Parts: sequence; C-alpha cells; structure tokens
Amino acid sequence: MPIPTSRTNEIAHLIIDYHTCKNCGLCAEVCKDFTLVMESGVLIVNDHPLFGCMGCGQCAAVCPNGSIMVHGREMSAEDFIKQPARNERAGYDGLYSLMLSRRSIRDFRDKPVESEMTDKILQAAVSSPMGIPPSDVGVLVFNSKNKVRKFSFEFIEAVLKMRTYFSPLVLGLMKPFMKKENYELSRDFIVPMLDFFRKSKAENKNYLLYDAPLAMYFYNSGYADTADPFIPATYAMLAAHSMGLGSCMIGSIAPFLKYIKPLKKKYGLPASSKDGIFLIFGHPKYKYQKAIKRSFAKVDFV
Ligand SMILES: Cc1cc2nc3c(=O)[nH]c(=O)nc-3n(C[C@H](O)[C@H](O)[C@H](O)COP(=O)(O)O)c2cc1C
Repeated sequence: MPIPTSRTNEIAHLIIDYHTCKNCGLCAEVCKDFTLVMESGVLIVNDHPLFGCMGCGQCAAVCPNGSIMVHGREMSAEDFIKQPARNERAGYDGLYSLMLSRRSIRDFRDKPVESEMTDKILQAAVSSPMGIPPSDVGVLVFNSKNKVRKFSFEFIEAVLKMRTYFSPLVLGLMKPFMKKENYELSRDFIVPMLDFFRKSKAENKNYLLYDAPLAMYFYNSGYADTADPFIPATYAMLAAHSMGLGSCMIGSIAPFLKYIKPLKKKYGLPASSKDGIFLIFGHPKYKYQKAIKRSFAKVDFV
C-alpha cells in the first residue's frame, strides 16, 4: 500500500533503461522499500515492496548511468538536477562559522526583503529532508511589514479570547490533571506572555513578530511528522543568514493557532494541521560583536 500524504496516495513508478543499466545494484542497495532488488545479478522491480515506492528518488540519484526515472508522487525527470561538485559545497569550517555567527534577530532596518532573497530562502528550505516524500510541509509567506503586522494583531486578538483558560482559578482546578512542566509553563510563561501581548497591542506595538518585513509559517498536514516543519525552517534560517539577513523562530503562535479555526481558514491552513513554526526575517538593525558558546542539557555517549 502506498503511504498517503495530503498531496498523493499513489505509488511512484520506476522506469529502468536496461540498455544503459549495468546491473551494478547500487539503486537496490539504497532502496529501503525493496521496490528495487537484485535477482540473480539482474535489477528488477519487486512485486512485493515494503510499502510501495514513496518517490524518495535515491535510486535515480545514486545511479552512475542515469538509467532510472521516477514518475509519480509529484516527481518527474526534471527533478533530478546537477549534483554540486565538492569544491562548490561549504566545508565544515565555513558551515560552522555561519552557524556560530547567527543570532536570533528581532530588530530590523525599515527595508523590505528583496523577493529574490525570499525565493532563495524557500529554495534552500525545500532541500531539507522530510518524513515521507513528497514533503507535506506548507509555507505561508507574509512578504511585507503590513501583512506581518495585520496577522500579528489578528492572532493576538484571537488568542486573548483563550486567556480565561489560563486564569489562576482554571489553572488551579486543572493542575492535578496537568503535567508538572505544562502547569509551570502555563503559569510562568504563557500567562505573562498573553498579558504582555495585550498591553503591547494596546500600545500599537508588535512584540509577537516584531514588525519584521518578512515572515514565514512552516506547517504540516495531518499526515506529516510532527518534526517536519522545523527542519526546513532551520534550513531557511541558515540560508537567510548566509545572505546577510537576520531571522528569528517564533514558537509562541503554533500551539494556539491550531485551535483558532477562523484564522486557519482565513489563511488557508489545513484543518488537520497541528504543528508549525513561524520565522521572521529582515535586514538586521544591529551588528553582533561576539558569538555565543552554548551547551546542551545533557550529552551522554552510551
Ligand atoms: C523553537 C523556537 C521557538 C522560539 N520562539 C521564540 C518566540 O516566540 N519569540 C522570540 O522572541 N524568540 C523565540 N525564539 C528564539 C530564541 O529565544 C533564541 O533562539 C534564543 O534566545 C537563543 O538566541 P540565539 O538564537 O541568538 O542563539 C525561538 C527559538 C526556537 C528555536
């Protein structure tokens, strides 16, 4: 059975050019669905794969002879493009320097983000891995300060309607049924945050998306892995930084947005979408002089 996503529930079809195929078996080695297998030294398309080809494209990408074509599940021949040469790729030192010099940027110059840069961010982000191909991540792009501000205030207005769920009385009643961490985060983070949003909106200030000139919301469908939107969002952040743009992830929207049906409908988000992450981008107002050394909560080699 093909693995369903919101985009397709068919299997992909593989076409093998037996005139050029040397039966080297590389494609069968990398195919973990067992759609392609070697039988008596000959490459065959298996009648009994694990799920049915999900169109990951690994077979066609690894083939040294260009003998495999993948069709279906949103894939076609045009999707197999030139592999960047080794000397075109960032090495560890360059990549680490890029990562180390990135800061979360919340102060922007009053300058729009050029559409070419927006396109490049999306181009880099979509190259990230996904749970099951084709990617079930959608991206909502707010490409002006006005659009970002409009959404911010619409969201704050909607989320403040939920404020009563976080009153001391309701939280106290719910405490025995809540995880300790959720209770503490509700009391010490969500309540002050909502109250701050109320106050700053009254002053016409946007501390939610910081009046950025560009924002993107990476969201998943009901089929996708919870982690799916966060991975392209991270790529987008690094791509933006590589072009001199600042960015910041904004996690305070998605956990509420999933319950705000009218806003989801207005912005065309799937009803089944639960997880997502906002990112803001812009030309940074300030220059940072130091990088910051960080530590994980715990690293255990077991
Ligand atoms: C998942 C996630 C959610 C975040 N949510 C917010 C947010 O809602 N508002 C905000 O101002 N910053 C947010 N941030 C930015 C962090 O606060 C920031 O990464 C952290 O302070 C470390 O700073 P640095 O990115 O400059 O190293 C978020 C970051 C991540 C990874």
